This record gives sequence, C-alpha cells and structure tokens, in this order.
Amino acid sequence: MTEYTEVCRLPDIREGELRKVAVRGRDILLARRGDRVYATGVLCPHLRADLSEGTLQGYILTCPLHGSRFDIRDGHVVRWTNLSGTILEYASRAIPPRPLPCFPVRIDGDRVLVGVPWS
Ligand code: FES
Repeated sequence: MTEYTEVCRLPDIREGELRKVAVRGRDILLARRGDRVYATGVLCPHLRADLSEGTLQGYILTCPLHGSRFDIRDGHVVRWTNLSGTILEYASRAIPPRPLPCFPVRIDGDRVLVGVPWS
C-alpha cells in the first residue's frame, strides 16, 4: 500500500534543485522541472553514492562518484558508470545496470506529496 506524504511546498523548491527529504525514515530525492516534481531514491544503484550531491541536466541525473546517469522521470539507466571498454564490461558483470527507484508525486495546490509504499 502506498501512502502520500507532504514533503515540501512547491515554491520552496527551486527549478533544477536536488533536495533530499525523509519519508518514514526513507531518504527520497526531489527534483523540480517546471511545474512538476520528480521523486527518486537518494542512493545510486551502482555503489550507493549520495545522488543529492550529483548534477541534474534536463531530466538526467548524474552520480557524483562514477558518473552513472539516470532519467528522473522513470529511473531508467542512461549510462552505467563513466567507465568504458573492457573495464565497463567487467564492472557491469560484477554490478549489472539497475534503474533508479522512482516514487509517484502529487501536487495539491502548492503542497508536494510523495507516495512511498509501506515496506
Ligand atoms: S556510485 Fe554512482 S556510479 Fe558508482
């Protein structure tokens, strides 16, 4: 079951900002694009770097540690690490590409609510 929790007010989050919030003890990353806010996991699926320290260009979030890139709209992997060639092949066998978890967001007036399932 998913429960929606208010995490901030829309005017409080700047365009392109990456903001870490906690919902029931779980860290969630918020990113605003226009009138929409996207919510993903904070930890990189590669080696758990803090993605709130990454960079956002358009909808693409880049990990600060090894440069993996994820689309914040659905979490899909755009690039798995910044390695290449044989090193990437071995690294991908050790830790196969995994999408970034995403959470549904509702905007109610200027309230931003994130749906996080009970685990
Ligand atoms: S920890 Fe994010 S790419 Fe390695």
